[in-house]
Amino acid sequence: MTTKTTQTVDAAAAGTWTLGDRTVNRLGFGAMRLTGSAAFDLGSSRDREQSIRVLRRAVELGVDHIDTAAFYFSRLRSANELINRALAPYPDELTIVTKVGPGRDASGAWLSWATPGQLRGQVEENLRQLGRDHLDVVNLRLNGPGPLSDHFGALAELREAGLIRHLGLSNIGPEHLAEAQAIAPVVCVQNRYGLASRPDRSGDLLRICGEQGIAFVPFFAIAGEGREGGAAPDGAGDDDAVLAVARAHGATPAQVRLAWTLGQGGHVLAIPGTGNPDHLAENVAAGALRLTADEMALLDAAR
Ligand SMILES: NC(=O)c1ccc[n+]([C@@H]2O[C@H](COP(=O)([O-])OP(=O)(O)OC[C@H]3O[C@@H](n4cnc5c(N)ncnc54)[C@H](OP(=O)(O)O)[C@@H]3O)[C@@H](O)[C@H]2O)c1
Repeated sequence: MTTKTTQTVDAAAAGTWTLGDRTVNRLGFGAMRLTGSAAFDLGSSRDREQSIRVLRRAVELGVDHIDTAAFYFSRLRSANELINRALAPYPDELTIVTKVGPGRDASGAWLSWATPGQLRGQVEENLRQLGRDHLDVVNLRLNGPGPLSDHFGALAELREAGLIRHLGLSNIGPEHLAEAQAIAPVVCVQNRYGLASRPDRSGDLLRICGEQGIAFVPFFAIAGEGREGGAAPDGAGDDDAVLAVARAHGATPAQVRLAWTLGQGGHVLAIPGTGNPDHLAENVAAGALRLTADEMALLDAAR
């Protein structure tokens, strides 16, 4: 068992990046775990007051970048409703990023990927739930190989109409980025990528985004292969290298995974997801953890 970093650290310790005209701290927050510890498990509703406290504490700790979606809900909890309840009226500096494309019906069952014509309804659903009249950033989340032009074009029209400030992409390959950029600017790419799981196409996008000054926002940085099911308990299943680096810094394995993620480049933003206040403080504190080149190399060779 490793020592947990207890010192209070502000998210600004991780440094900043820009999403269009929005400046955000590189250590942000993912809202998917607020509704239940296992994502998309309808029955695993989390304590409502605790989720609200986690959101408010995140902002107190300097988090100004929250990732969400209308389809993050369990039977009794909705991530967007929790964000609205906890944080509205929203601080000017808070950037809320949502995603459209996938959708779930009221029973929680997944719907077919949205048609271009259905995207406006998904954007408006986010606006209603969050209580806003525009969305800071909307990611078009692909479910398959594409093409995406008609969908991205529909979102670009909503951007022109003032419903959306900036556009991003999620779950894409490098070819999709170029296809979308022919239609409208892309400020971020959100793909699965972490120390434990590094799909090649995400690695390519990490590099391409860095070259073009686009934010790369990996998900499952902590959960790794556990993905929707969540992370293993502290230390369980962690590679020896992760445990050794954690011990050397008096940090937890999750903090090392986040520090490794932030170490991939100044354009990489972390959005760790949690509904646990202790994990939140730990995750924000990871923004101050600096790994040496040797430690990064050791971790690069690990999983
Ligand atoms: N674009 C997409 O397709 C997509 C897909 C998936 C996720 N996302 C976004 O990315 C965000 C991050 O993904 P994620 O939440 O699935 O995974 P994650 O941040 O990699 O890990 C979350 C899991 O790790 C646990 N955890 C968090 N902090 C921890 C800590 N300090 N120590 C030990 N365990 C810890 C959480 O449980 P506790 O809640 O109990 O702490 C949860 O089970 C999501 O919240 C969501 O906003 C986007």
